[in-house]
Amino acid sequence: MRIGLVGVGRIGAFHAATLKGLPAVDQVVVADADANRAELVAKDLGIEFAPDVDALLASRLDGFVIAAATSAHADLLARGVAAGIPTFCEKPIAHDLADTQRVVELVEASDVPVHIGFQRRFDAGYQAAAAQVRSGELGFVHHIRANTNDAFPPPREYIPTSGGFFRDCTVHDFDIIRFVTGREVVSVYATGANRGEPFFGEYGDVDAAAALLTLDDSTFVSVSGTRYNAAGHDVRMEVLGSLGSVAVGLDEHTALRSAEAGVTFPGGEPHATFMDRFRPAYVAELTAFTEVVAGTREVPCTVRDALQAFRIADACELSRHENRVVSLEEIAR
Ligand SMILES: NC(=O)c1ccc[n+]([C@@H]2O[C@H](COP(=O)([O-])OP(=O)(O)OC[C@H]3O[C@@H](n4cnc5c(N)ncnc54)[C@H](O)[C@@H]3O)[C@@H](O)[C@H]2O)c1
Repeated sequence: MRIGLVGVGRIGAFHAATLKGLPAVDQVVVADADANRAELVAKDLGIEFAPDVDALLASRLDGFVIAAATSAHADLLARGVAAGIPTFCEKPIAHDLADTQRVVELVEASDVPVHIGFQRRFDAGYQAAAAQVRSGELGFVHHIRANTNDAFPPPREYIPTSGGFFRDCTVHDFDIIRFVTGREVVSVYATGANRGEPFFGEYGDVDAAAALLTLDDSTFVSVSGTRYNAAGHDVRMEVLGSLGSVAVGLDEHTALRSAEAGVTFPGGEPHATFMDRFRPAYVAELTAFTEVVAGTREVPCTVRDALQAFRIADACELSRHENRVVSLEEIAR
């Protein structure tokens, strides 16, 4: 199959290289608003490039991958759907809820498959935890602890268009909580602080945050994250049940050291970035997209899933600003 990819920045160039290596993919062609960048990446990977998105979409694609900047997603998704091409789009769909809802309506009114890139759904650990919750072997789940800790903060210029900590960072936790439990969030209480460089606060954002979510079966979920975790990129989830408990992301590479004498686990090199932590998941995610393109698989993460995760993030922002519990019913569907 022939896959076109738009946006060859940090994640796009990585996805282009992954696509090139997939057995189901015969040709990869890339484009970018910066045509020189597309040409450079194409030369580097030994693949084709198109001078712009129009040329890319007109080049007989079987699948379309959007890895451009977030501000371009809604328009590019609309173009992929209008062209009738099965489309994969990196999270998030848009910067705000209204644009996200518009895209959801557009996609759901079409028969074009659209897969949104929440790669944790393809991580073996989260999949195993989901299977154990669903099989009942953990009993009833009473608490979940989820965290997303980045090793280093992004540059100042990233923050004003990031959507804020909950929409940019912990949105991955919000999606995977739904995936692992199969439950919906009914209310949130969230807070945050600017403990690092002051530019986060200058843009109304935080660099450390915490949220308590209550699920529709009364499971309590605490979500926390920071932009300053020099120990490493630390993404984990603990699922605590009446019959057993499991931890996702607890292995030799966990960015954590025991304070107990004589305990050497975890002893390996901690993950530095999300690329290290989720490399196999990104490959599995794009493999799944090729199956969507081939028509052999249902879309594994829909635009409505992305909308639900975004609504939880919006509820957390509102809760942080108003310092109160926010019901998900308050956030438009
Ligand atoms: N799922 C994940 O774990 C994950 C990780 C990183 C980034 N992302 C998402 O991927 C997207 C890209 O992030 P990044 O860090 O690679 O950004 P980046 O800034 O490194 O790259 C973005 C690229 O998009 C291009 N671009 C911007 N507007 C365009 C347009 N209208 N048409 C064509 N090309 C355009 C830019 O020239 C640039 O090359 C963001 O939406 C981000 O949220 C997801």
